[in-house]
Formats: sequence, structure tokens, C-alpha cells
Amino acid sequence: MRTPLVLGNWKMHGNRAFARALAGDVCADVQGMGQVEVGLCPPFVFLTDVAAVVGESPVGLGAQNASEFRDGAYTGEISCGMLQALGCRYVLVGHSERRQLFAETPAQVIAKLVAVVDAGMIPVLCVGETLTERQSGATPHVIDAQLAPLFARADAAHYLQTAVIAYEPVWAIGTGETATPAQAQAVHAQIRQRVCALDEGLGQRMRILYGGSVKPGNAGELFGEADIDGGLIGGAALKAEDFCAIVAAAARQS
Ligand code: PGA
Repeated sequence: MRTPLVLGNWKMHGNRAFARALAGDVCADVQGMGQVEVGLCPPFVFLTDVAAVVGESPVGLGAQNASEFRDGAYTGEISCGMLQALGCRYVLVGHSERRQLFAETPAQVIAKLVAVVDAGMIPVLCVGETLTERQSGATPHVIDAQLAPLFARADAAHYLQTAVIAYEPVWAIGTGETATPAQAQAVHAQIRQRVCALDEGLGQRMRILYGGSVKPGNAGELFGEADIDGGLIGGAALKAEDFCAIVAAAARQS
């Protein structure tokens, strides 16, 4: 009942020629894969290049970050309105690298999510715990704290209607270490329960992606879990062949 979604997060990799070639290869390879939604999140400066390559194909365009502010004197920032005008469909908010390296707070991340929805795009809200937090048994608490500023809003359901959540354990990102399907499923189930407690139908419709060293070799078993509805792919998204194999694994589960 939930169409799986697979997003490629290219982070700060590549150049213009690489971005165009990779987008072209992905578009060609995912054709006819059936019931799966696909999106590419290149660096900001390659968004127009990737938009030109994906054109009218079903592959969506996404950004890796956005400002929570509408416009104004915010040197170096990019607004949601600007991204929407470039044709973006998705915007990642609260990726762990943003939280850890650029000190984004839970409140700021949710302000970004609100700005993304208000601009007519789909926010992909990333949540996840560090290794120390997992080892101390704090995972459920950490996830709840990251979601708290959203659930505190009276209009939370309105914003969740459009949102996608990505569970990305920090210890699994770019490390080659993946959460086991059971570990991931447990957190996904917790997130879905929280949304269901607000609105059952909304919780059942909400797509929850897994991210953290997803590869062609482990995608199938992760996506086979009841509450895993696709993936947010970093390293493996930089190779069209690997990324498309992951997309195919998601399509097989739908
Ligand atoms: P990874 O990155 O697949 O390279 O672990 C995932 C992410 O950071 O979104």
C-alpha cells in the first residue's frame, strides 16, 4: 500500500560532468522498474544540470538541505522557494552530517521541514542515534527527542501528511556497517507507532526509509521488513549500477 521510495544523496561529491552522466545513467536504468519512486539529491550547484537530464522522466529532483527562512540577509543560504522554482520535489532535512558538523538543532530541523512543506515540496526528515547512544540503550529516546519539536505543534498532522522520515543510524552512515534488518525494523516500528498515535491512517501511509550503508547486497533483506519503505542511499548512489540495483530491490518488495 506504500509505494517505496529510493533517494540518492550525492553529498559533496562529483563535478558537473559526473552529475550529468550519473543522472543520465540512473534515468536509463530505472525505466520500467514498476512500483517504485526514485529521486536524486545532487549538490545545489548541479541541480539545474540534473533537472535538465531527468527532464520529464519519473526520476525526481531533490536537495540535500534548505534554509528555514523564506528570504532575507542570510548569506550563503538557499531558500525553499528557490529550490521549488528549480523543480525540486524532495528536500532532505536534518541529515546527521548537518546535525553533527553544522550544529543543526532539532527545532531548526523541524523549522526547515515546515518551510519545505509550505513551499510545496516533500521533506525527508532524517533521524538517528550515534553508536554511544545505541550502546547505552538510548535509541528510542533520541529518536523521540528529534521528532519532539514536530509533535509539539498543533498542526503536526498537516506537516506529516507530506513528509517522509528516514531512519539513519549515525554509526551506519558511510562506515560500511549496516543496521541488521531487525534493528532497523524495531526503530521503524517505533516511528510508525508515534505517527499512528497521532493519526492511525497517517501512520500507516507514512513512508519510512532506512539509510546507512545500504548496498545491492543488503537492500533486499532491509526492504523486506514490514516498516521499511525504501532507502536513503549515500555511497552506493554514486554508482548508477549499484543505485539501480537497490531501486530494483525496492521495486521487488512493492
Ligand atoms: P551511506 O550514506 O549510504 O554512504 O552510508 C547514507 C546517508 O548519509 O544518507
